[in-house]
Amino acid sequence: MKDVIVACDFSTKEEIMEFLDLFTEEKPYVKIGMELFYAEGPQMVKEIKARGHRIFLDLKLHDIPNTVYKAMRNVALLNPDMTNVHAAGGIEMMKAAQKAIDEINPKIELIAVTQLTSTSSEVLKNELWIDHDINDTIVHYAANASEAGLAGVVCSPLEAEMIHEKVGKAFITVTPGIRFADAKQDDQKRITTPAKAREIGSDYIVVGRPITASSDPVEAYKRCVKEFLG
Ligand code: C5P
Repeated sequence: MKDVIVACDFSTKEEIMEFLDLFTEEKPYVKIGMELFYAEGPQMVKEIKARGHRIFLDLKLHDIPNTVYKAMRNVALLNPDMTNVHAAGGIEMMKAAQKAIDEINPKIELIAVTQLTSTSSEVLKNELWIDHDINDTIVHYAANASEAGLAGVVCSPLEAEMIHEKVGKAFITVTPGIRFADAKQDDQKRITTPAKAREIGSDYIVVGRPITASSDPVEAYKRCVKEFLG
Protein backbone atom coordinates (compact mmCIF):
# COMPACT_ATOMS: atom_id res chain seq x y z
CA MET A 1 0.00 0.00 0.00
CA LYS A 2 1.49 3.34 -1.07
CA ASP A 3 2.22 5.81 1.70
CA VAL A 4 4.35 8.71 2.90
CA ILE A 5 6.87 7.75 5.61
CA VAL A 6 8.13 10.61 7.80
CA ALA A 7 11.86 10.26 8.58
CA CYS A 8 12.00 11.13 12.28
CA ASP A 9 15.70 11.93 12.48
CA PHE A 10 15.59 13.17 16.05
CA SER A 11 18.16 12.38 18.75
CA THR A 12 15.92 12.06 21.77
CA LYS A 13 12.56 10.65 22.74
CA GLU A 14 11.41 14.09 23.92
CA GLU A 15 11.98 15.54 20.46
CA ILE A 16 10.14 12.80 18.58
CA MET A 17 7.23 12.79 21.02
CA GLU A 18 6.93 16.57 20.79
CA PHE A 19 6.86 16.22 17.00
CA LEU A 20 4.26 13.43 17.02
CA ASP A 21 2.08 15.40 19.46
CA LEU A 22 1.52 17.94 16.66
CA PHE A 23 -0.48 15.33 14.79
CA THR A 24 -3.87 15.25 16.41
CA GLU A 25 -5.85 13.68 13.53
CA GLU A 26 -3.37 11.89 11.27
CA LYS A 27 -1.11 9.11 12.44
CA PRO A 28 1.82 9.30 10.01
CA TYR A 29 3.90 6.25 9.15
CA VAL A 30 7.28 7.08 10.76
CA LYS A 31 10.87 6.00 10.13
CA ILE A 32 13.05 5.51 13.19
CA GLY A 33 16.76 5.10 12.60
CA MET A 34 19.81 3.95 14.52
CA GLU A 35 20.44 7.37 16.02
CA LEU A 36 17.24 7.33 18.03
CA PHE A 37 17.10 3.57 18.53
CA TYR A 38 20.58 3.40 20.08
CA ALA A 39 19.65 6.24 22.45
CA GLU A 40 16.13 5.25 23.45
CA GLY A 41 15.87 1.54 22.66
CA PRO A 42 13.00 -0.88 22.07
CA GLN A 43 10.65 0.64 24.65
CA MET A 44 10.29 3.80 22.58
CA VAL A 45 9.37 1.74 19.51
CA LYS A 46 6.64 0.04 21.52
CA GLU A 47 5.34 3.40 22.78
CA ILE A 48 5.16 4.90 19.30
CA LYS A 49 3.40 1.77 18.03
CA ALA A 50 0.96 2.03 20.92
CA ARG A 51 0.14 5.59 19.81
CA GLY A 52 -1.11 4.13 16.54
CA HIS A 53 1.77 4.92 14.19
CA ARG A 54 3.15 2.47 11.66
CA ILE A 55 6.94 2.19 11.97
CA PHE A 56 9.78 1.62 9.54
CA LEU A 57 12.64 0.56 11.84
CA ASP A 58 15.68 1.54 9.79
CA LEU A 59 18.46 -0.46 11.49
CA LYS A 60 20.24 -1.81 8.37
CA LEU A 61 21.43 -5.15 9.77
CA HIS A 62 24.63 -6.55 8.24
CA ASP A 63 26.46 -9.51 9.84
CA ILE A 64 26.87 -13.27 9.44
CA PRO A 65 23.57 -15.03 8.65
CA ASN A 66 23.21 -16.65 12.09
CA THR A 67 23.67 -13.35 13.93
CA VAL A 68 21.32 -11.50 11.59
CA TYR A 69 18.74 -14.29 12.01
CA LYS A 70 18.82 -13.99 15.80
CA ALA A 71 18.92 -10.20 15.80
CA MET A 72 16.07 -10.00 13.30
CA ARG A 73 13.89 -12.24 15.48
CA ASN A 74 14.29 -9.67 18.25
CA VAL A 75 13.60 -6.80 15.86
CA ALA A 76 10.47 -8.60 14.63
CA LEU A 77 9.24 -9.00 18.21
CA LEU A 78 9.01 -5.19 18.37
CA ASN A 79 6.46 -5.52 15.59
CA PRO A 80 7.61 -2.77 13.19
CA ASP A 81 5.71 -2.58 9.90
CA MET A 82 8.94 -2.41 7.91
CA THR A 83 12.62 -3.00 8.64
CA ASN A 84 15.81 -3.57 6.67
CA VAL A 85 19.20 -5.18 6.07
CA HIS A 86 22.16 -4.42 3.81
CA ALA A 87 22.00 -6.38 0.55
CA ALA A 88 25.82 -6.41 0.70
CA GLY A 89 25.50 -9.12 3.36
CA GLY A 90 24.58 -11.55 0.58
CA ILE A 91 21.64 -13.76 -0.32
CA GLU A 92 22.14 -16.25 2.50
CA MET A 93 22.15 -13.44 5.08
CA MET A 94 19.01 -11.89 3.57
CA LYS A 95 17.30 -15.29 3.58
CA ALA A 96 18.19 -15.69 7.26
CA ALA A 97 16.64 -12.29 8.01
CA GLN A 98 13.50 -13.16 6.05
CA LYS A 99 13.25 -16.51 7.88
CA ALA A 100 13.27 -14.66 11.21
CA ILE A 101 10.50 -12.35 9.97
CA ASP A 102 8.44 -15.26 8.65
CA GLU A 103 8.69 -17.05 11.96
CA ILE A 104 7.68 -14.06 14.10
CA ASN A 105 5.43 -11.91 11.91
CA PRO A 106 5.34 -12.40 8.12
CA LYS A 107 3.39 -9.15 7.73
CA ILE A 108 6.55 -7.11 8.42
CA GLU A 109 7.94 -5.82 5.12
CA LEU A 110 11.66 -6.62 4.98
CA ILE A 111 13.59 -4.49 2.54
CA ALA A 112 17.26 -4.17 1.59
CA VAL A 113 19.63 -1.25 1.20
CA THR A 114 21.40 -1.70 -2.15
CA GLN A 115 24.21 0.85 -2.22
CA LEU A 116 24.16 3.79 0.17
CA THR A 117 23.68 7.09 -1.64
CA SER A 118 26.88 8.24 0.04
CA THR A 119 28.77 5.63 -2.02
CA SER A 120 29.91 7.30 -5.23
CA SER A 121 31.08 5.51 -8.37
CA GLU A 122 34.67 6.37 -7.33
CA VAL A 123 34.28 4.83 -3.86
CA LEU A 124 32.64 1.74 -5.37
CA LYS A 125 35.59 1.21 -7.71
CA ASN A 126 38.58 2.48 -5.72
CA GLU A 127 37.66 1.48 -2.17
CA LEU A 128 35.17 -1.37 -2.45
CA TRP A 129 36.86 -2.72 -5.59
CA ILE A 130 33.60 -3.28 -7.41
CA ASP A 131 34.24 -2.78 -11.09
CA HIS A 132 30.65 -2.88 -12.27
CA ASP A 133 28.73 0.27 -13.05
CA ILE A 134 26.97 1.63 -9.95
CA ASN A 135 23.47 1.36 -11.47
CA ASP A 136 24.12 -2.22 -12.57
CA THR A 137 25.32 -2.99 -9.04
CA ILE A 138 22.19 -1.47 -7.51
CA VAL A 139 19.87 -3.44 -9.81
CA HIS A 140 21.88 -6.62 -9.21
CA TYR A 141 21.64 -6.19 -5.42
CA ALA A 142 17.89 -5.60 -5.78
CA ALA A 143 17.62 -8.84 -7.77
CA ASN A 144 19.53 -10.63 -4.99
CA ALA A 145 17.11 -9.23 -2.41
CA SER A 146 14.20 -10.46 -4.51
CA GLU A 147 15.80 -13.90 -4.84
CA ALA A 148 16.18 -14.02 -1.05
CA GLY A 149 12.43 -13.42 -0.76
CA LEU A 150 12.54 -9.84 0.52
CA ALA A 151 9.69 -7.45 -0.15
CA GLY A 152 11.73 -4.66 -1.72
CA VAL A 153 14.56 -2.15 -1.49
CA VAL A 154 15.40 1.39 -0.46
CA CYS A 155 16.53 3.31 -3.52
CA SER A 156 16.43 6.72 -5.16
CA PRO A 157 13.23 7.42 -7.10
CA LEU A 158 15.36 7.49 -10.24
CA GLU A 159 16.45 3.91 -9.58
CA ALA A 160 12.91 2.74 -8.81
CA GLU A 161 12.03 2.53 -12.47
CA MET A 162 14.97 0.33 -13.50
CA ILE A 163 14.48 -1.90 -10.45
CA HIS A 164 10.79 -2.41 -11.27
CA GLU A 165 11.79 -3.23 -14.86
CA LYS A 166 14.29 -5.89 -13.76
CA VAL A 167 12.61 -7.36 -10.67
CA GLY A 168 8.92 -6.67 -11.35
CA LYS A 169 6.35 -4.15 -10.20
CA ALA A 170 5.34 -6.11 -7.10
CA PHE A 171 8.81 -5.58 -5.61
CA ILE A 172 8.45 -2.48 -3.48
CA THR A 173 10.66 0.59 -3.79
CA VAL A 174 11.05 2.89 -0.79
CA THR A 175 12.48 6.19 -1.90
CA PRO A 176 14.07 9.10 0.01
CA GLY A 177 15.41 12.27 -1.64
CA ILE A 178 11.99 13.93 -1.85
CA ARG A 179 11.56 17.71 -2.00
CA PHE A 180 8.63 20.00 -2.82
CA ALA A 181 9.07 21.77 -6.15
CA ASP A 182 9.47 25.16 -4.43
CA ALA A 183 11.78 24.02 -1.60
CA LYS A 184 15.48 23.92 -0.88
CA GLN A 185 17.50 20.82 -1.64
CA ASP A 186 19.53 20.52 1.66
CA ASP A 187 22.31 17.94 1.21
CA GLN A 188 20.28 15.68 -1.11
CA LYS A 189 21.87 15.42 -4.55
CA ARG A 190 19.24 13.79 -6.70
CA ILE A 191 15.79 14.88 -5.70
CA THR A 192 12.24 14.29 -6.86
CA THR A 193 8.91 15.83 -5.92
CA PRO A 194 6.23 13.63 -4.32
CA ALA A 195 4.15 13.81 -7.52
CA LYS A 196 7.10 12.80 -9.70
CA ALA A 197 7.90 9.92 -7.32
CA ARG A 198 4.35 8.69 -7.80
CA GLU A 199 4.71 8.91 -11.58
CA ILE A 200 7.99 6.98 -11.50
CA GLY A 201 6.35 4.24 -9.43
CA SER A 202 7.74 4.65 -5.89
CA ASP A 203 5.72 2.58 -3.44
CA TYR A 204 6.66 4.56 -0.35
CA ILE A 205 8.38 7.93 -0.14
CA VAL A 206 10.58 8.75 2.87
CA VAL A 207 10.39 12.45 3.70
CA GLY A 208 12.38 14.08 6.49
CA ARG A 209 13.25 17.76 6.66
CA PRO A 210 10.55 19.02 4.26
CA ILE A 211 8.15 17.94 7.03
CA THR A 212 10.17 17.89 10.28
CA ALA A 213 11.86 21.27 9.68
CA SER A 214 8.75 22.94 8.29
CA SER A 215 7.14 25.80 10.21
CA ASP A 216 3.90 23.79 9.94
CA PRO A 217 4.78 20.08 9.89
CA VAL A 218 1.16 18.92 9.79
CA GLU A 219 0.39 21.05 6.71
CA ALA A 220 3.62 19.90 5.05
CA TYR A 221 2.72 16.27 5.75
CA LYS A 222 -0.78 16.73 4.35
CA ARG A 223 0.63 18.40 1.24
CA CYS A 224 3.04 15.52 0.75
CA VAL A 225 0.29 12.92 1.08
CA LYS A 226 -1.92 14.85 -1.33
CA GLU A 227 0.82 15.14 -3.94
CA PHE A 228 1.99 11.55 -3.59
CA LEU A 229 -1.32 9.73 -3.25
CA GLY A 230 -3.27 12.11 -5.46
O1 C5P B 1 15.49 15.08 5.48
P1 C5P B 1 15.45 14.19 4.29
O2 C5P B 1 14.11 14.19 3.57
O3 C5P B 1 16.62 14.39 3.35
O4 C5P B 1 15.59 12.73 4.93
C1 C5P B 1 15.67 11.58 4.15
C2 C5P B 1 15.77 10.37 5.03
O5 C5P B 1 16.02 9.23 4.22
C3 C5P B 1 16.90 10.40 6.07
O6 C5P B 1 16.46 9.65 7.19
C4 C5P B 1 18.03 9.70 5.35
O7 C5P B 1 18.95 9.10 6.24
C5 C5P B 1 17.27 8.64 4.58
N1 C5P B 1 17.95 8.08 3.41
C6 C5P B 1 18.42 8.87 2.36
N2 C5P B 1 19.05 8.27 1.32
C7 C5P B 1 19.20 6.93 1.30
C8 C5P B 1 18.74 6.13 2.34
C9 C5P B 1 18.10 6.75 3.40
O8 C5P B 1 18.24 10.07 2.37
N3 C5P B 1 19.75 6.35 0.26
